[in-house]
Amino acid sequence: MQVLKLGGSVLTRKGGYMELDQKNIDALAKMLGGAWKSGVRDFILIHGAGSFGHPLVLKYGLNDGIRTDAQKAGMALTHAACTCLSQALIDALVKNDVPAVTVPPISIGKLSDKRISKMDSGIVANLLSSGFLPVLHGDMMLDEKLGGAVCSGDQLVSYFGKGAERVILGTNVDGIIADGKVVPRITKANLSEILKHVKGSDTADVTGGMRGKLEELLRIGRPAYIANALHPERIEKLLRGEKSVCTLVE
Ligand SMILES: Nc1ncnc2c1ncn2[C@@H]1O[C@H](COP(=O)(O)OP(=O)(O)O)[C@@H](O)[C@H]1O
Ligand SMILES: [Mg+2]
Repeated sequence: MQVLKLGGSVLTRKGGYMELDQKNIDALAKMLGGAWKSGVRDFILIHGAGSFGHPLVLKYGLNDGIRTDAQKAGMALTHAACTCLSQALIDALVKNDVPAVTVPPISIGKLSDKRISKMDSGIVANLLSSGFLPVLHGDMMLDEKLGGAVCSGDQLVSYFGKGAERVILGTNVDGIIADGKVVPRITKANLSEILKHVKGSDTADVTGGMRGKLEELLRIGRPAYIANALHPERIEKLLRGEKSVCTLVE
């Protein structure tokens, strides 16, 4: 099984407020339709929330616990916004003959102090083995300690990536960049040097931008490829196990 993540930086206009990037969604859905038709079906899809998540979390103050009625309403609204984005992606995938089904994380799991403590991943495995493409997304989830909290798409990647053959993260840059160049490979040997170049995000990203992504990837212990999903063909190559422009994190 492979895990593919498409970042909110690609599916949405991340600097806006709940704005889709329909052109990118359509291009990626078309690519995935082609891959699916040719037999690449051994993966689950996780997507970020982009401008359907981060600005709402900031607006409603949802990042340090959910206690008041206003925060609960904000959490419900933010969850609904994330499912709206997911639905737009599903529509595009189904138009390209991919039988994609959203499994909202809030419905199958919970957090404890912002980390996943329970996830009924059986339904995800069943969908996959039955020939469907399970789609999960960054979401608001119940939290045993905090009432509720954000679960990033990147955390879902590290959770579901543990048993994966490979993990592919599509974002809006060519990989991890240091001194103006894409770093081809990150291992224990160069990690601390590379980390000096890795920051958050240029846009609102409450889940740590590139640094948050890298921290999650280091938890997996499986090969992870960070690539530019604004070039869908690069993602397709990686899904097929071929080489492409990217950063490999080992
Ligand atoms: N060293 C780095 N190399 C590449 N991107 C970086 C680096 N440091 C910070 N970033 C930022 O991380 C962003 C990608 O993370 P993020 O905005 O969270 O994307 P996504 O929505 O795909 O999760 C890039 O657009 C860039 O602004
Ligand atoms: Mg992010």
